[in-house]
Amino acid sequence: MSRLSTQDRERLLASARDILRRAYAPYSGFKVGAAILTDEGKIFTGCNVENASYGLTICAERSAIFSAVINSAIKPTLRAVAVVNEQEVPCSPCGACRQVISEFGLETVVIFKSERGYEELTISELLPSSFRLET
Ligand code: THU
Repeated sequence: MSRLSTQDRERLLASARDILRRAYAPYSGFKVGAAILTDEGKIFTGCNVENASYGLTICAERSAIFSAVINSAIKPTLRAVAVVNEQEVPCSPCGACRQVISEFGLETVVIFKSERGYEELTISELLPSSFRLET
């Protein structure tokens, strides 16, 4: 059973698909869009932005999260993250994005395309024992 309402899930997927148009992916040709829903009910979107120096590329998920942080007065808590790609092939968030998502909510629901269609898992299921800085 879906842990998000159908309405929220569809709204997020539509927002992620919409922002795909902005993806800058001249090197891989793999355009990705992401949309996040905060606990406050706000949606923020992001796309991948590549660079001639390949390692400088930013993924869609992180660009959406950074936009949420930039535009929120307090630390945002992520209720859900949806990620889509232009080719509609299986694509789950990379390890770096999983770590960044977990910074903003261990219960965040991640919606991504798997071999079985769009799937929902929590970030704790995708990245157990994420790094936390204990000082
Ligand atoms: N990419 C994302 O934006 N999100 C993912 O979840 C996987 C990979 C991007 C990075 C790069 O621009 C392109 O996809 C190919 O790796």
